Amino acid sequence: MLKPIRKAIIPAAGLGVRFLPATKSQPKEMLPIVDKPTIQFIVEEAVASGIEDILIITGRNKRAIEDHFDKSLELEMILSERGKDDLLKLVQDIGTMVDIHYVRQKEPLGLGHAIYCARKFIGDEPFAVLLGDDVVRSEKPCLKQMIEVYEEYRYSVLAVQEVPPEDTYKYGILKASQLEDKIYRVHDLVEKPKVEEAPSNLAVMGRYIISLRIFDFLAKTKPGAGGEIQLTDALRSLVSCEAIYGLAFEGKRYDVGDKLGYLKATVEFALEREDLGAEFKEYLKELL
Ligand code: UTP
Repeated sequence: MLKPIRKAIIPAAGLGVRFLPATKSQPKEMLPIVDKPTIQFIVEEAVASGIEDILIITGRNKRAIEDHFDKSLELEMILSERGKDDLLKLVQDIGTMVDIHYVRQKEPLGLGHAIYCARKFIGDEPFAVLLGDDVVRSEKPCLKQMIEVYEEYRYSVLAVQEVPPEDTYKYGILKASQLEDKIYRVHDLVEKPKVEEAPSNLAVMGRYIISLRIFDFLAKTKPGAGGEIQLTDALRSLVSCEAIYGLAFEGKRYDVGDKLGYLKATVEFALEREDLGAEFKEYLKELL
């Protein structure tokens, strides 16, 4: 019988060098898009996709993330005393959405290493990975779209999107053949290839459903590009013995760990807000 996807890992232990100095003493995953920390969007996507347990991989400065998803007795008391019931509910809901667990990655040795730190939590089920700095805006949650493909194809599924050829050096790129509309069979992956070496322009975005066997390969994976243990290298080994599929998901993805990506997300999310959108649009029109 097919094992359901119940557990998700959110790696959030990177250094966030691209966002210094904001990330000097706080994780980039806590940077707010309007008024909600990035990582909360990601937790909400996981919950809306049916995930029951989340493991956040934290690094230095982990406290802000833990505190955010914890109960805040003092704040709740003050909001209650002041009759701010809407805000009270908003704050309480964050702490009760889902079971969140934490593991510390002692050194930022790469995404592959961060995921390897989760092996005991995962046990014997396939699992989801949602990168802590990738936000997807879509009608149906991106991870839910992927779980539906997993339920049909029964093996690992990677979220992919076409990128301009000159941008392939920023992503893991697929060598793949198309099976049906939006679904690809992966033959190989290349981490951050130059445009002339890229086998396609299908880039892996920050969502994965991965078979348990990945841990055997992560255990053996040596540091690759940038001296880090790369998830892409372990996925390459996995695809040589087990099927992996790519889903060109519906939705728009923002790399919030990148300054421009962060600004785009902030502006687009703000424009959609009922309480801010109209006024903000007017302001932007005047400004431009
Ligand atoms: P990134 O490469 O985007 O994160 O990793 P980074 O290393 O923090 O970025 P820069 O280049 O220094 O700005 C993708 C995701 O994997 C996590 C990051 O927190 C991010 O969510 N990650 C990365 C880890 O958890 N551990 C690592 O060792 C590396």
